[in-house]
Amino acid sequence: MITFENVSKQFTGSEGTFTAVKDVSFEVQKGDIYGVIGFSGAGKSTLIRTVNLLEEPSSGKVYVNGRDMMTLSADELRKERKKIGMVFQHFNLCESKTVFENVAIPLRLSKTSKKDIQPRVKELLQFVGLGDKSDHYPDQLSGGQKQRVGIARALATSPEILLCDEATSALDPDTTQSILDLLKRVNREFNITILIITHEMQVIRDICDYVTVMENGEMIESGSVFDLFSRPKAKTTRNFVNAVMQDQLPASVINMIHKEGKSNRLYRILFEGDEAGQPVLSQVSKQYHLDFNILHGQITELQDQPFGNLIVEFIGEENNIQQAVEHIGNRLTVSEVNINERD
Ligand SMILES: Nc1ncnc2c1ncn2[C@@H]1O[C@H](COP(=O)(O)OP(=O)(O)OP(=O)(O)O)[C@@H](O)[C@H]1O
Ligand SMILES: [Mg+2]
Repeated sequence: MITFENVSKQFTGSEGTFTAVKDVSFEVQKGDIYGVIGFSGAGKSTLIRTVNLLEEPSSGKVYVNGRDMMTLSADELRKERKKIGMVFQHFNLCESKTVFENVAIPLRLSKTSKKDIQPRVKELLQFVGLGDKSDHYPDQLSGGQKQRVGIARALATSPEILLCDEATSALDPDTTQSILDLLKRVNREFNITILIITHEMQVIRDICDYVTVMENGEMIESGSVFDLFSRPKAKTTRNFVNAVMQDQLPASVINMIHKEGKSNRLYRILFEGDEAGQPVLSQVSKQYHLDFNILHGQITELQDQPFGNLIVEFIGEENNIQQAVEHIGNRLTVSEVNINERD
C-alpha cells in the first residue's frame, strides 16, 4: 500500500546541508495500522510528509498503491492526494468556520455537489461522536473534540490511507485513549490503512500492528508490535519499551539488592500467548523446593495476546535453581539478569 524505498531527505540552509531522513525502507500493507516512533527531531514528520509529497524525497522512492508519487502529473497527484487523509497534532482547524464547515472543506475543494455535502458531513460527525456540535466553533471545543473534527475532515473524501502526525500528543491520557479507539474504528470499519507517527510508545502498543523505530533520521529497528515489545534489540527501542512495559529493573530495586548483598539469582521470564495463564512458577517452586520473589514486571496485552515479562529471584539450592531454570526454559523464554551490567 505504501512503500518507502531508500528514502532520504536533505535540507540545505545557510549552515549547510542537513540530512533529516537517511535511507529509510519499509512497507505498509493494506489494512494495517503502522507506527513510526522516535524522539523529537528523528525525522518522523519529514518522512510521513513524503507520502503525499508535501516533502519530496531527495533520493529514493515512495510508492502508494504501487505508483511512484514523483512521476505523477499535477492532476494525477491531486487525485492521489484525495485518497490520503491527514491528521495533525494541533488539529489545524479553521477557527472562523463552524465544525460543519471545517469538515466540509475537503468536500467543497473536491467540488462535491451541495446536496451531497450535508448528509456526508452529518454522517461523519455522527461517526466521530460530534453529531450535536455541528454549529459550534473550534474554540468552543475541547482538544479531544477538535481532534475528532480533524479526523472527520480527514475522512471526508473517503481516503484509503490516513496519515497521523502526532495525533494524540497534545491530549491528556484519557482523551488520547478515546482518540486511539476512534482511529481503531476508522481502521476496522472502513478498512483504512493508517500510518501514525508518535513519540509515545503507548500509542504504538495500543493500536499498531507494526512499528519502525527512527533515530537521527535512520531506521534502527522494525517489526511486529509483539516482536518488538517482547524482544527489543536496539538500546533506544529498549528505552521506549521500558517506558510502557517496565521490562528493566528500576534503580531502587537494584539498590535494594546491592544493600542486601544477595547473590545474582535473578531471571527474566517472558510469558507469551496461552502460556501467560500457566502456573509455571508455582510448579517449579514445588518441584525443586525453591522460593521465588517477583521483583519487577507486568502482565499485559500486546496485539490482543497476553504477554508477561517478569524478573524473578530464585532462592534455594544452586543445583535446584539450575534445574528449575532448565524446566522453565523448555516452555518459556528465560534468561539470567545481571544487575551489574545495566544497559
Ligand atoms: N524545512 C526544513 N528545513 C530545514 N530543516 C528541517 C526542515 N524540516 C525539518 N528539518 C529538520 O529535520 C530534522 C527532522 O525533523 P522532523 O520534523 O522530521 O522531526 P520529527 O521526528 O517529526 O520531530 P518532532 O517529534 O519534534 O515532531 C530536524 O532536525 C529538523 O530541524
Ligand atoms: Mg514531527
